[in-house]
Amino acid sequence: MIEFPNVQKGVIRNHYDITTLFYRLFWGPHIHHGYWESNETSSRAQIQLTERLAHAANIQSGNRVYDIGCGMGGSSVWLAKNLQCRVTGVTLSPVQRAYADLAARAGFVRPRPEFLRADAEKVEFPAGQADVVWSIECTEHLFDKPAFFRKAAGWLKPGGRFALCAWLSGELPLNDQQTEQTVAVCKGMFCPSLGAQSDYVRWFEDAGLEVTQKGIWTRNVEKTWDICLDRVNRSGVRHLAKILGKNHTLFLDHFQAILDAYKSGAMEYGYFVAEKKD
Ligand SMILES: C[S@@+](CC[C@H](N)C(=O)[O-])C[C@H]1O[C@@H](n2cnc3c(N)ncnc32)[C@H](O)[C@@H]1O
Repeated sequence: MIEFPNVQKGVIRNHYDITTLFYRLFWGPHIHHGYWESNETSSRAQIQLTERLAHAANIQSGNRVYDIGCGMGGSSVWLAKNLQCRVTGVTLSPVQRAYADLAARAGFVRPRPEFLRADAEKVEFPAGQADVVWSIECTEHLFDKPAFFRKAAGWLKPGGRFALCAWLSGELPLNDQQTEQTVAVCKGMFCPSLGAQSDYVRWFEDAGLEVTQKGIWTRNVEKTWDICLDRVNRSGVRHLAKILGKNHTLFLDHFQAILDAYKSGAMEYGYFVAEKKD
């Protein structure tokens, strides 16, 4: 695991509060990478990543799902609309919670997802009620990842699944340049640490879950950042970010750092499905 402990939770929340509109305009309702099989549009690629994870986790119609780090509710709404899942989304950002709730109401989504503004590291759900814990690109921001996995495992029913996508560090040891690249991404993207694939497997197993599927999707998702860089360079968003404060320019300036880290193997993009056995 690569650590950058200087990140503060208030800065993460503030970042998502302020940038929600930016994400919506520049990327869409999903704040996660796209998954490309060929030349799909970015919005199709975002849906493809969601579909792949849902398929891998064998999500069934009517499943009870907790969407941890739900952003603007992109996955929650998709799971409700397409698989009739009963979803509770959790986000650190009150702006995202309000946006997600409005989007679900305005879209007449049924069953309507419920959205909570809460810290995933503190939120409580009843034990053994969830069919699926779903989390796309949130655990990077958590401070005590093993404790979170233990807590989330308690929410699952026997046979329930944890479906997760995450930015990963490459497997250690990284060389000096790769370490620098990963630390730069942690700093620019407000991640107190990035775990490698083997760290996530250990955290799932220590929480009593069995990893039934895992994979690296780096080559299918990295185009995300070419597109984002191009959109940022062709727009005035960098000037807007300067007005909003240095944390936001820091974020934009690190798009290239992520691409470099993917190319060098300093970072990977991974998915996991882990099951709670009877
Ligand atoms: C990259 S976005 C992903 C959003 C969403 N999963 C998606 O795919 O569209 C990261 C999300 O994690 C949330 N997040 C970060 N730290 C969190 C925490 N401690 N508790 C709850 N949510 C958190 C942010 O508020 C944001 O919604």
